[in-house]
This record gives sequence, C-alpha cells and structure tokens, in this order.
Amino acid sequence: MQLKDVMYDADDVIDLCQTKAKERRLASSSSYSSSNASCGCPLLSCFRNPFFAHEIGSKIKEINSRLERIAKRKADLGLTKSPIIPRVDSIIHRKTDHLIVVDDIVGEKIEEDTEMLVSWLTEEEKGVRENVCVVAILGMGGIGKSTLAKKIFNDPRIEDEFQLKIWVCVSKEVKGEEVLKCVIRGAGGEPGYTNERSELVPILERHVNGKKFFLVLDDVWAESRAVWDGLLRAPMSSGAHGSRLLVTSRDERVANGMRATKSHRVEKLSDEDGWSLLIKQVFLKTKMVLF
Ligand SMILES: Nc1ncnc2c1ncn2[C@@H]1O[C@H](COP(=O)(O)OP(=O)(O)OP(=O)(O)O)[C@@H](O)[C@H]1O
Ligand SMILES: [Mg+2]
Repeated sequence: MQLKDVMYDADDVIDLCQTKAKERRLASSSSYSSSNASCGCPLLSCFRNPFFAHEIGSKIKEINSRLERIAKRKADLGLTKSPIIPRVDSIIHRKTDHLIVVDDIVGEKIEEDTEMLVSWLTEEEKGVRENVCVVAILGMGGIGKSTLAKKIFNDPRIEDEFQLKIWVCVSKEVKGEEVLKCVIRGAGGEPGYTNERSELVPILERHVNGKKFFLVLDDVWAESRAVWDGLLRAPMSSGAHGSRLLVTSRDERVANGMRATKSHRVEKLSDEDGWSLLIKQVFLKTKMVLF
C-alpha cells in the first residue's frame, strides 16, 4: 500500500513536468523559435526554470527516501521474492497412475489398439538378445496415449504374462532418484530414506533380478528420455528374458532414443466416438452438479 502511494506520487511528478514543459513550449512558440526552448528533450526544458527545478528536485529526493525506507523495512522483515510455483492441481493433473474406469472408455479403436499392443508385448521377439524390449506409444498431447497404456496395463493377459507390473509417470522434469524409488516400490521393494543412486540401483537390481516384468514409463519427454538408458536399463537388465518396457511420449525422438523395437501412433477418435466421449463427460459433470 505504501509502495503504491509512492508510485502514484512519482507519477504526479512526471505529470507536473509534462504540464510545465507544455506551458513553456506554448509560451516560447508565441515569443521566439520553439527549437530554442525545447533543447532536444521537450520534457527537460521545464528544468530551465531554477525555481521549478528546485521544487521537482525536492519532490524526487523525498520520493527516493520513502522508497529507501520501504526497501529497508522489506529487508528487516526478511521478505524475499517467492519463486513462481506451478499450481498444485496442474501438477496433480499431469501425474498419472495405472487406474482406469472401464465404463469411461469409448470407441472400437482403443479396443483394436489394445489387442495389437498386448500381442506385441506378450509374443516372443525373435532374434533379440536383450532381456528387455521396448515398445512405444506415440501421439500428440491429449490423444489418448496414457489411456491406452492404462488399458493395456490392466489387461488380464498382461497380468498373466508378467510377474511384476510397474507404472511410473515420468513427465518433463524428473529426478532420477525419484524414478528409481518409484520403480523399486513398484517392484515391491523399500527404497528407504537414501537419495544415493549408488545405493538405490542395487536395491532395484535385486528386486527385478530373474523376474519377467512389465514396466510402463508414462509421459516421457525428450528432456527426460535418459531415465531409461542412463539410469534404469542397466539394473533392469537383470530381469528375465521377455520383460517389456512400454513408453508413452509425444516425441518420436524418445522412441528412437530408447531403441523401441515397435512403435504405435495413436490416432484421434472418430467423430462418433468423440461425440459419445463428450456426452459422457457432460453427463458426468451435470450429475456432479445436481447431486
Ligand atoms: N478412448 C477413450 N475413451 C475415453 N476417454 C478417452 C479416450 N481417449 C482419451 N480419453 C480421454 O482424453 C483425455 C486425454 O487422454 P490421455 O491422458 O490418455 O492423453 P495423452 O495422449 O496421454 O496426453 P498427454 O500427451 O498430455 O499425456 C483423458 O481425459 C482421457 O480420459
Ligand atoms: Mg499421457
């Protein structure tokens, strides 16, 4: 509030200078050449009057000392500029889990995609020496990549095929230690309080060792794609042959960087399915308001 007052007073000083400069210009144009009076910057011409210059100078001095007092109080109170923290609801919105409401799913296409991807994930990859093969789901934001991945994750055939199922939401800014901890927990382990990679990596290795696992890394960005090659791949190679990593991303570079053996691009819903999704959503919201 005090700062606001000072700023208004500073604004008044500028207005006063402008008015005086205008008066001077009008007076000088009626007596002699205007270029003589303006001397380059019209606003500064008002300071040619020593009385006015003194009056304005005192006002500026007074404004400066008020600003200094405010700055001192800010320092005394220990006030600092807080960083801009993203809204909590947007963070929650981006973090995904594997849970799904089956009745909310619409369209034949997602059923067909699920069939194809489940068979990719469960069939044997011929001529592949690696224990863990990578399959990618690609497509633009909001197209339904995570929804498809959830549907696959919850499919009974996946349940039957793999000993371990782990879902980790990666997102753009990710801490390697956090991902390690999530995967350890997903594998039934307890990472403890350490944040040391050198301690977390062997825990992970122990928990996946010899097990056929299905890991989903949801929402991987180009910026976070190193989580696989640079962090998880080595300890998770101790998993049994036939283990699978399913990654979802908007960015094709992620699939290439992770050396996905197969990629599937999600296409947009048909007009008909889009309508039924819209109706479902509207109906859901209306019900929420009514009851
Ligand atoms: N087939 C579908 N049936 C019902 N809802 C769907 C379907 N596909 C997508 N949706 C809905 O559309 C929204 C966006 O889907 P989803 O989160 O899967 O997109 P995404 O491709 O993973 O997006 P992002 O790139 O932002 O992670 C969600 O609310 C989801 O429930
Ligand atoms: Mg997603």
